[in-house]
Amino acid sequence: MSDAGNMDLLRKQRDELRDEAIAGDPAGVARQRAQGKRTARDRLDLLLDPGSFTEIDMYRRHQAHGFKVGDNRPLTDGVVAGSGTIDGRRVFVYAQDFTIFGGSLGAAHAAKIHKVLDLALATGSPVIGLNDSGGARIQEGVLALDGYGGIFRRQVAASGIIPQINVLLGPCAGGAAYSPALSDFTFMVRGTAKMYLTGPDVVAAVTGERVSHDELGGADVHGRRSGVATFVHDDEESCLEDVRYLVSMLPANNLSGAPVPPRRDVVDEPRPRLADIVPAKPNLPYDIREVIAELVDDGDFLELHETWAANIVCVLARINDEVVGIVGNQPLVLAGVLDIEASQKAARFVRFCDAFGIPLVTLVDVPGFLPGTDQEYSGVIRHGAKLLYAYCEATVPRIQVILRKAYGGAYIVMDSRSIGCDLSLAWPTNEIAVMGAEGAVDVLFRKELAGAADPDALRVSLMDTYADELVHPFYAAERGLVDDVIDQADTRTAIASGLAMLREKRAQPAPRKHGNLPI
Ligand code: HXC
Repeated sequence: MSDAGNMDLLRKQRDELRDEAIAGDPAGVARQRAQGKRTARDRLDLLLDPGSFTEIDMYRRHQAHGFKVGDNRPLTDGVVAGSGTIDGRRVFVYAQDFTIFGGSLGAAHAAKIHKVLDLALATGSPVIGLNDSGGARIQEGVLALDGYGGIFRRQVAASGIIPQINVLLGPCAGGAAYSPALSDFTFMVRGTAKMYLTGPDVVAAVTGERVSHDELGGADVHGRRSGVATFVHDDEESCLEDVRYLVSMLPANNLSGAPVPPRRDVVDEPRPRLADIVPAKPNLPYDIREVIAELVDDGDFLELHETWAANIVCVLARINDEVVGIVGNQPLVLAGVLDIEASQKAARFVRFCDAFGIPLVTLVDVPGFLPGTDQEYSGVIRHGAKLLYAYCEATVPRIQVILRKAYGGAYIVMDSRSIGCDLSLAWPTNEIAVMGAEGAVDVLFRKELAGAADPDALRVSLMDTYADELVHPFYAAERGLVDDVIDQADTRTAIASGLAMLREKRAQPAPRKHGNLPI
């Protein structure tokens, strides 16, 4: 055959293979849709800018043989991989295809994901995995396990260099769950996404406990109880829409800087509602998210772990166009105390922001750490230390705003001056102290109170003296622990000015292999 004839034949073969890969298995696609799930390609269409997807390894097939797999060698090997854009910005993606071997991962499937991770790291681009998989492909034995190991190793190597996002749109069983756990953000869709190390059958066999897939590892379990899911959604559309929103806030990598340059000018923008939102009495609740909405551009923010450790709130938002990470105590839940889970949640968020150069704004209204045997036995000291460590080591611009009360160790941990915040602002109503007036008087004047003719009157008078002398904003401001006492209404402007002041902040930590985070 002539060279031209040969080329035509190869082109025809390529086009046929391409059509076959894109069509997939029609019966499997129908089953997938019947379960309310989209195909891998439909999902990529929703996630990426139209027409931006470039696929790699479409013709890849597994090289396994024997044990119920040999003759069936579908194209793509159950994962659609490549690159595209979100709002014009480059991302790398892979989407597991449950219609092929249940999206399970064998050597070829894994090699495609390795390639995507390698390219994402080499080009400094975020990577997004859409997971829908039965886990390690049983027919490929140790090669499947080796494939997972290669993913985990690459994820860890890329951690803190490129943002990593995992989206669970179906099962994610066994050790495969470590991939979402190693990424920066995990999305789950209610009803279809499930994640567990061992499924309900194994649980029943080993422990005798009967539990459904959803009760064991559904989206709400990981959104509310385990904290493994960062975001939970009702459907695939809103989920993938929020992935796009998240990506719009993130830098491409740790060196690339913010997605949009921050505005240089700071306009005075008073927010008089702030004084109404936060009651002056320190023990009255309010929703810190209302405060955040007043402080950020257009009242828009993206909240992480909305229903897990809700006594602390972590959001990404923009102030004067600059993306910031905001951490705030939530007086609406458990009076805003710090506990084990709140410390873990905020610590991971602080470390993410620091790794990717996102400035931190910390809104403080905290009565202290949660007391009790439950917390102490479960290691609140160890877990609280994570948050302390995360703040101490963060070198991004850090602004602390003390809204109302800040007591004891929790004051220190919530980005106080002593652990390195760059700017500490306080509202005139704030109370910073080792403890509240009542507790302080009881500790210091126990004997005097016991011998007093009118202990209640003495207690009130001592509490007043304590408050006047020690618990007012100027006690800290006179000593340089608060940089300025600001009106509530001026908070947005003051934060924006602080961010502008700190924009060129540079910090070079001393060389070391790594610190020893109390994990
Ligand atoms: C090969 C698999 C598979 C797997 C599913 N399939 N999981 N093939 N390896 N791990 C195949 C099924 O045989 C079936 O093929 C098709 O995918 C669809 O699966 P169904 O069971 O019919 O679907 P469904 O009822 O929706 O149930 C989904 C499921 C279930 C819950 C995920 O398939 C399941 O429990 N799979 C096994 C999960 C598991 O234990 N995986 C290994 C975990 S250990 P046909 O031909 O019938 O359509 C692990 C180790 C990783 O992952 C270690 C890393 C450190």
